[in-house]
Amino acid sequence: EKGTYPHFMLKEIDEQPFVIRKIIQEYQNEKDEIKLDPEIREAMKACDRIYIIAAGTSYHAGLLGKQFIEKLANIPVEVHVASEFSYNMPLLSEKPLFVYISQSGETADSRSVLVQMKELGHPALTLTNVPGSTLSREADFTMHLHAGPEIAVASTKAYTAQMAVLAILAVDTARAKGIKLDFDPMQELGIVASAMEALTDQKEQLEELARNYLSTTRNCFFIGRGIDYYVGLEGSLKLKEISYIQAEGFAGGELKHGTIALIEDGTPVIALATQENVNYSIRGNVQEVEARGAKSMIISMKGLDKEGDAFVIPHVHDLMTPLVSVLPLQLISYYAALHRDCDVDKPRNLAKSVTVE
Ligand code: M6R
Repeated sequence: EKGTYPHFMLKEIDEQPFVIRKIIQEYQNEKDEIKLDPEIREAMKACDRIYIIAAGTSYHAGLLGKQFIEKLANIPVEVHVASEFSYNMPLLSEKPLFVYISQSGETADSRSVLVQMKELGHPALTLTNVPGSTLSREADFTMHLHAGPEIAVASTKAYTAQMAVLAILAVDTARAKGIKLDFDPMQELGIVASAMEALTDQKEQLEELARNYLSTTRNCFFIGRGIDYYVGLEGSLKLKEISYIQAEGFAGGELKHGTIALIEDGTPVIALATQENVNYSIRGNVQEVEARGAKSMIISMKGLDKEGDAFVIPHVHDLMTPLVSVLPLQLISYYAALHRDCDVDKPRNLAKSVTVE
Protein backbone atom coordinates (compact mmCIF):
# COMPACT_ATOMS: atom_id res chain seq x y z
CA GLU A 1 0.00 0.00 0.00
CA LYS A 2 1.05 3.57 -0.70
CA GLY A 3 0.12 4.85 2.77
CA THR A 4 0.52 8.61 2.84
CA TYR A 5 2.60 8.67 -0.34
CA PRO A 6 1.08 10.06 -3.55
CA HIS A 7 2.93 7.47 -5.64
CA PHE A 8 4.57 4.08 -5.16
CA MET A 9 7.69 5.38 -6.85
CA LEU A 10 8.27 8.02 -4.18
CA LYS A 11 7.59 5.51 -1.42
CA GLU A 12 10.01 3.03 -2.96
CA ILE A 13 12.71 5.68 -3.33
CA ASP A 14 12.32 6.49 0.35
CA GLU A 15 12.48 2.85 1.34
CA GLN A 16 16.03 2.44 0.03
CA PRO A 17 17.92 3.03 3.30
CA PHE A 18 15.72 0.41 5.00
CA VAL A 19 16.29 -2.04 2.17
CA ILE A 20 20.05 -1.64 2.46
CA ARG A 21 19.88 -2.24 6.22
CA LYS A 22 17.67 -5.28 5.66
CA ILE A 23 20.23 -6.68 3.20
CA ILE A 24 23.03 -6.15 5.74
CA GLN A 25 20.95 -8.06 8.28
CA GLU A 26 19.96 -10.90 5.95
CA TYR A 27 23.46 -11.51 4.61
CA GLN A 28 25.28 -11.51 7.94
CA ASN A 29 25.47 -14.24 10.60
CA GLU A 30 25.92 -13.89 14.37
CA LYS A 31 29.69 -13.88 13.94
CA ASP A 32 29.45 -10.94 11.54
CA GLU A 33 30.46 -13.18 8.65
CA ILE A 34 28.76 -13.10 5.27
CA LYS A 35 25.83 -15.53 5.26
CA LEU A 36 25.57 -17.19 1.89
CA ASP A 37 24.50 -20.55 0.49
CA PRO A 38 27.80 -22.51 0.47
CA GLU A 39 26.90 -23.86 -2.98
CA ILE A 40 26.91 -20.32 -4.37
CA ARG A 41 30.33 -19.75 -2.83
CA GLU A 42 31.61 -22.94 -4.45
CA ALA A 43 30.14 -22.03 -7.85
CA MET A 44 31.73 -18.58 -7.70
CA LYS A 45 35.08 -20.08 -6.72
CA ALA A 46 34.93 -22.75 -9.40
CA CYS A 47 34.09 -20.57 -12.39
CA ASP A 48 36.67 -18.92 -14.64
CA ARG A 49 34.34 -16.23 -16.02
CA ILE A 50 30.97 -14.79 -15.11
CA TYR A 51 28.29 -13.87 -17.63
CA ILE A 52 25.74 -11.45 -16.23
CA ILE A 53 22.44 -11.45 -18.13
CA ALA A 54 19.77 -8.82 -17.52
CA ALA A 55 17.52 -6.15 -19.04
CA GLY A 56 16.83 -2.47 -18.40
CA THR A 57 17.67 -1.26 -14.93
CA SER A 58 18.84 -4.71 -13.89
CA TYR A 59 21.35 -4.58 -16.75
CA HIS A 60 22.63 -1.27 -15.38
CA ALA A 61 23.08 -2.90 -11.96
CA GLY A 62 24.97 -5.68 -13.75
CA LEU A 63 27.43 -3.15 -15.15
CA LEU A 64 28.29 -2.18 -11.58
CA GLY A 65 28.33 -5.84 -10.57
CA LYS A 66 31.12 -6.36 -13.08
CA GLN A 67 33.16 -3.65 -11.35
CA PHE A 68 32.62 -5.20 -7.92
CA ILE A 69 33.45 -8.75 -9.01
CA GLU A 70 36.44 -7.88 -11.18
CA LYS A 71 37.97 -5.38 -8.76
CA LEU A 72 37.34 -7.31 -5.55
CA ALA A 73 37.20 -10.99 -6.51
CA ASN A 74 39.45 -10.87 -9.56
CA ILE A 75 37.14 -12.89 -11.84
CA PRO A 76 36.51 -11.62 -15.40
CA VAL A 77 32.89 -10.63 -15.98
CA GLU A 78 30.89 -9.95 -19.13
CA VAL A 79 27.56 -8.16 -18.91
CA HIS A 80 24.99 -8.84 -21.63
CA VAL A 81 21.64 -7.38 -22.52
CA ALA A 82 19.45 -10.48 -22.36
CA SER A 83 17.57 -9.88 -25.62
CA GLU A 84 20.83 -9.58 -27.59
CA PHE A 85 22.66 -12.51 -26.10
CA SER A 86 21.71 -15.19 -28.60
CA TYR A 87 22.43 -12.97 -31.65
CA ASN A 88 25.83 -11.94 -30.38
CA MET A 89 26.65 -14.96 -28.37
CA PRO A 90 30.17 -14.61 -26.95
CA LEU A 91 32.72 -17.38 -27.02
CA LEU A 92 32.22 -19.00 -23.67
CA SER A 93 35.05 -19.79 -21.30
CA GLU A 94 35.71 -23.31 -20.04
CA LYS A 95 33.88 -22.89 -16.75
CA PRO A 96 31.29 -20.16 -17.14
CA LEU A 97 28.85 -19.17 -14.42
CA PHE A 98 25.71 -17.37 -15.52
CA VAL A 99 24.24 -14.73 -13.22
CA TYR A 100 20.72 -13.57 -14.06
CA ILE A 101 19.63 -10.31 -12.47
CA SER A 102 15.90 -9.67 -12.47
CA GLN A 103 13.72 -7.77 -10.04
CA SER A 104 10.58 -9.65 -11.09
CA GLY A 105 12.25 -12.92 -11.97
CA GLU A 106 9.85 -13.13 -14.90
CA THR A 107 11.62 -11.28 -17.72
CA ALA A 108 11.20 -13.45 -20.81
CA ASP A 109 14.40 -12.24 -22.49
CA SER A 110 16.48 -13.30 -19.50
CA ARG A 111 14.60 -16.55 -19.10
CA SER A 112 15.23 -17.50 -22.69
CA VAL A 113 19.00 -17.21 -22.13
CA LEU A 114 18.70 -19.21 -18.93
CA VAL A 115 16.85 -22.03 -20.66
CA GLN A 116 19.38 -22.17 -23.52
CA MET A 117 22.39 -22.07 -21.22
CA LYS A 118 20.94 -24.65 -18.84
CA GLU A 119 20.51 -26.96 -21.83
CA LEU A 120 24.23 -26.58 -22.45
CA GLY A 121 24.81 -27.46 -18.78
CA HIS A 122 25.99 -24.04 -17.58
CA PRO A 123 25.20 -23.27 -13.94
CA ALA A 124 22.80 -20.44 -13.15
CA LEU A 125 22.56 -18.05 -10.23
CA THR A 126 19.55 -15.72 -10.13
CA LEU A 127 19.43 -12.46 -8.17
CA THR A 128 15.79 -11.58 -7.77
CA ASN A 129 13.31 -9.80 -5.59
CA VAL A 130 10.78 -12.61 -6.02
CA PRO A 131 12.24 -15.91 -4.79
CA GLY A 132 9.40 -18.10 -6.13
CA SER A 133 9.65 -16.52 -9.60
CA THR A 134 10.39 -18.39 -12.80
CA LEU A 135 14.02 -17.30 -13.02
CA SER A 136 14.54 -18.31 -9.43
CA ARG A 137 12.90 -21.73 -9.81
CA GLU A 138 14.75 -22.56 -12.98
CA ALA A 139 18.19 -21.53 -11.74
CA ASP A 140 20.49 -23.65 -9.62
CA PHE A 141 20.84 -20.96 -6.94
CA THR A 142 19.05 -17.79 -5.89
CA MET A 143 20.11 -14.69 -3.99
CA HIS A 144 17.18 -12.70 -2.67
CA LEU A 145 17.19 -8.91 -2.98
CA HIS A 146 14.99 -8.33 0.10
CA ALA A 147 13.68 -5.05 -1.34
CA GLY A 148 10.02 -5.78 -0.60
CA PRO A 149 7.40 -5.53 -3.35
CA GLU A 150 8.29 -3.00 -6.03
CA ILE A 151 5.07 -1.73 -7.58
CA ALA A 152 6.06 1.35 -9.61
CA VAL A 153 7.04 0.44 -13.15
CA ALA A 154 10.22 2.48 -12.76
CA SER A 155 12.63 0.36 -10.77
CA THR A 156 14.36 2.17 -7.91
CA LYS A 157 14.91 0.19 -4.72
CA ALA A 158 15.52 -3.04 -6.65
CA TYR A 159 18.43 -1.36 -8.47
CA THR A 160 20.22 -0.31 -5.28
CA ALA A 161 19.40 -3.69 -3.69
CA GLN A 162 20.90 -5.49 -6.70
CA MET A 163 24.13 -3.51 -6.38
CA ALA A 164 24.31 -4.12 -2.62
CA VAL A 165 23.85 -7.87 -3.06
CA LEU A 166 26.42 -7.94 -5.87
CA ALA A 167 28.94 -6.16 -3.63
CA ILE A 168 28.38 -8.73 -0.88
CA LEU A 169 28.71 -11.58 -3.38
CA ALA A 170 31.96 -10.12 -4.73
CA VAL A 171 33.49 -9.74 -1.27
CA ASP A 172 32.39 -13.21 -0.21
CA THR A 173 34.04 -14.67 -3.30
CA ALA A 174 37.21 -12.68 -2.71
CA ARG A 175 37.40 -13.99 0.86
CA ALA A 176 36.70 -17.55 -0.26
CA LYS A 177 39.59 -17.23 -2.71
CA GLY A 178 41.87 -15.96 0.05
CA ILE A 179 42.13 -12.44 -1.38
CA LYS A 180 42.88 -9.89 1.35
CA LEU A 181 40.59 -6.89 1.05
CA ASP A 182 40.58 -3.53 2.67
CA PHE A 183 36.83 -3.29 2.18
CA ASP A 184 34.13 -4.35 4.61
CA PRO A 185 30.91 -4.42 2.57
CA MET A 186 28.58 -4.34 5.58
CA GLN A 187 30.30 -1.32 7.04
CA GLU A 188 30.32 0.46 3.67
CA LEU A 189 26.65 -0.40 3.12
CA GLY A 190 25.84 1.04 6.56
CA ILE A 191 27.45 4.31 5.46
CA VAL A 192 25.45 4.12 2.22
CA ALA A 193 22.18 3.69 4.12
CA SER A 194 22.85 6.81 6.21
CA ALA A 195 23.82 8.78 3.11
CA MET A 196 20.59 7.69 1.41
CA GLU A 197 18.60 8.84 4.42
CA ALA A 198 20.19 12.26 4.28
CA LEU A 199 19.26 12.54 0.60
CA THR A 200 15.63 11.56 0.98
CA ASP A 201 15.38 14.64 3.22
CA GLN A 202 16.52 16.92 0.40
CA LYS A 203 13.51 16.49 -1.83
CA GLU A 204 12.67 20.17 -2.07
CA GLN A 205 16.03 21.00 -3.56
CA LEU A 206 15.71 18.20 -6.11
CA GLU A 207 12.16 19.18 -6.98
CA GLU A 208 13.43 22.68 -7.67
CA LEU A 209 16.20 21.35 -9.93
CA ALA A 210 13.65 19.27 -11.84
CA ARG A 211 11.40 22.30 -12.24
CA ASN A 212 14.23 24.51 -13.35
CA TYR A 213 15.87 22.12 -15.82
CA LEU A 214 13.20 19.72 -17.00
CA SER A 215 9.70 21.23 -16.96
CA THR A 216 9.59 22.06 -20.64
CA THR A 217 12.65 20.53 -22.29
CA ARG A 218 12.35 18.02 -25.14
CA ASN A 219 15.60 16.25 -24.35
CA CYS A 220 18.27 15.82 -21.70
CA PHE A 221 21.73 14.27 -21.59
CA PHE A 222 23.50 12.50 -18.76
CA ILE A 223 27.26 12.31 -18.82
CA GLY A 224 29.80 10.57 -16.63
CA ARG A 225 33.04 8.64 -16.81
CA GLY A 226 33.86 5.27 -15.29
CA ILE A 227 31.14 4.08 -12.95
CA ASP A 228 29.47 7.49 -13.09
CA TYR A 229 28.76 6.73 -16.75
CA TYR A 230 26.78 3.65 -15.75
CA VAL A 231 24.76 5.65 -13.25
CA GLY A 232 24.08 8.17 -16.01
CA LEU A 233 22.65 5.36 -18.14
CA GLU A 234 20.31 4.47 -15.31
CA GLY A 235 19.39 8.13 -14.72
CA SER A 236 18.50 8.55 -18.37
CA LEU A 237 16.38 5.39 -18.43
CA LYS A 238 14.51 6.57 -15.34
CA LEU A 239 13.86 10.00 -16.80
CA LYS A 240 12.76 8.82 -20.24
CA GLU A 241 10.44 6.08 -19.03
CA ILE A 242 8.39 8.21 -16.67
CA SER A 243 8.63 11.76 -18.06
CA TYR A 244 8.86 10.93 -21.80
CA ILE A 245 11.72 13.39 -22.15
CA GLN A 246 14.17 12.02 -24.68
CA ALA A 247 17.09 11.29 -22.40
CA GLU A 248 20.41 9.62 -23.19
CA GLY A 249 23.43 8.73 -21.11
CA PHE A 250 26.89 9.12 -22.61
CA ALA A 251 30.46 8.55 -21.61
CA GLY A 252 32.00 12.00 -21.14
CA GLY A 253 34.84 11.21 -23.52
CA GLU A 254 32.47 10.13 -26.31
CA LEU A 255 30.73 13.50 -26.53
CA LYS A 256 33.20 14.96 -28.98
CA HIS A 257 32.76 11.92 -31.23
CA GLY A 258 29.27 12.93 -32.24
CA THR A 259 26.81 13.64 -29.47
CA ILE A 260 28.00 17.17 -28.84
CA ALA A 261 26.36 18.10 -32.16
CA LEU A 262 23.01 17.76 -30.39
CA ILE A 263 23.75 20.40 -27.77
CA GLU A 264 21.77 23.58 -28.33
CA ASP A 265 21.03 26.65 -26.30
CA GLY A 266 19.41 25.50 -23.07
CA THR A 267 19.85 21.72 -23.57
CA PRO A 268 19.99 20.21 -20.07
CA VAL A 269 23.12 18.17 -19.38
CA ILE A 270 23.36 16.35 -16.06
CA ALA A 271 26.94 15.42 -15.18
CA LEU A 272 28.01 13.02 -12.45
CA ALA A 273 31.29 13.73 -10.70
CA THR A 274 31.75 11.29 -7.84
CA GLN A 275 35.08 9.70 -8.79
CA GLU A 276 38.37 11.33 -8.01
CA ASN A 277 40.19 9.93 -11.05
CA VAL A 278 37.73 11.48 -13.51
CA ASN A 279 36.72 14.61 -11.64
CA TYR A 280 38.94 16.85 -13.71
CA SER A 281 38.03 15.40 -17.09
CA ILE A 282 34.28 15.28 -16.54
CA ARG A 283 34.33 18.91 -15.47
CA GLY A 284 36.19 19.62 -18.71
CA ASN A 285 33.32 17.98 -20.60
CA VAL A 286 30.86 20.18 -18.75
CA GLN A 287 32.76 23.26 -19.92
CA GLU A 288 32.67 21.96 -23.50
CA VAL A 289 28.90 21.56 -23.48
CA GLU A 290 28.38 24.85 -21.69
CA ALA A 291 30.40 26.57 -24.39
CA ARG A 292 27.79 25.24 -26.85
CA GLY A 293 24.92 26.64 -24.79
CA ALA A 294 24.03 23.66 -22.58
CA LYS A 295 22.38 24.23 -19.25
CA SER A 296 24.50 21.96 -17.09
CA MET A 297 23.92 20.48 -13.67
CA ILE A 298 26.78 18.82 -11.79
CA ILE A 299 26.04 16.20 -9.17
CA SER A 300 29.20 15.59 -7.19
CA MET A 301 30.33 13.98 -3.97
CA LYS A 302 31.48 15.65 -0.78
CA GLY A 303 35.23 16.06 -0.90
CA LEU A 304 35.26 16.33 -4.71
CA ASP A 305 32.70 19.11 -4.97
CA LYS A 306 33.32 22.57 -6.35
CA GLU A 307 31.49 25.83 -5.98
CA GLY A 308 28.48 25.97 -8.24
CA ASP A 309 27.73 22.24 -8.20
CA ALA A 310 23.97 21.77 -8.26
CA PHE A 311 23.86 18.91 -5.79
CA VAL A 312 26.41 17.22 -3.54
CA ILE A 313 25.95 13.69 -2.19
CA PRO A 314 27.55 12.64 1.12
CA HIS A 315 30.94 10.94 0.97
CA VAL A 316 30.88 7.15 0.54
CA HIS A 317 33.42 4.57 -0.67
CA ASP A 318 34.33 5.00 -4.36
CA LEU A 319 32.78 1.70 -5.41
CA MET A 320 29.58 2.47 -3.49
CA THR A 321 28.85 5.86 -5.06
CA PRO A 322 26.26 4.50 -7.55
CA LEU A 323 24.01 3.36 -4.70
CA VAL A 324 23.88 6.95 -3.50
CA SER A 325 24.28 9.09 -6.62
CA VAL A 326 21.32 7.40 -8.28
CA LEU A 327 18.95 8.76 -5.59
CA PRO A 328 19.02 12.38 -6.75
CA LEU A 329 18.53 11.12 -10.32
CA GLN A 330 15.52 9.03 -9.27
CA LEU A 331 14.00 11.98 -7.45
CA ILE A 332 14.70 14.45 -10.26
CA SER A 333 12.99 12.04 -12.68
CA TYR A 334 10.06 11.65 -10.33
CA TYR A 335 9.52 15.40 -10.02
CA ALA A 336 10.06 15.98 -13.74
CA ALA A 337 7.32 13.45 -14.49
CA LEU A 338 5.07 15.01 -11.86
CA HIS A 339 5.54 18.53 -13.21
CA ARG A 340 4.75 17.28 -16.69
CA ASP A 341 1.55 15.59 -15.52
CA CYS A 342 2.71 12.11 -16.39
CA ASP A 343 1.36 8.94 -14.83
CA VAL A 344 4.41 8.34 -12.63
CA ASP A 345 3.69 4.80 -11.45
CA LYS A 346 2.26 3.50 -14.71
CA PRO A 347 3.99 5.13 -17.66
CA ARG A 348 2.46 4.61 -21.09
CA ASN A 349 3.40 1.55 -23.15
CA LEU A 350 5.23 -0.14 -20.27
CA ALA A 351 4.55 -3.12 -18.03
CA LYS A 352 6.17 -3.92 -14.69
CA SER A 353 7.37 -7.28 -15.87
CA VAL A 354 8.00 -7.97 -19.52
CA THR A 355 6.98 -11.55 -20.07
CA VAL A 356 7.22 -11.58 -23.87
CA GLU A 357 10.43 -11.71 -25.90
O1 M6R B 1 12.17 -7.55 -13.57
P1 M6R B 1 13.43 -7.23 -14.29
O2 M6R B 1 14.49 -6.68 -13.40
O3 M6R B 1 13.97 -8.41 -15.07
O4 M6R B 1 13.04 -6.13 -15.33
C1 M6R B 1 13.96 -5.64 -16.26
C2 M6R B 1 13.47 -4.40 -16.93
O5 M6R B 1 12.27 -4.62 -17.62
C3 M6R B 1 13.24 -3.26 -15.92
O6 M6R B 1 14.38 -3.00 -15.17
C4 M6R B 1 12.81 -1.98 -16.64
O7 M6R B 1 13.86 -1.49 -17.42
C5 M6R B 1 12.33 -0.95 -15.62
N1 M6R B 1 11.03 -0.43 -15.99
C6 M6R B 1 13.27 0.20 -15.45
O8 M6R B 1 12.83 1.13 -14.52
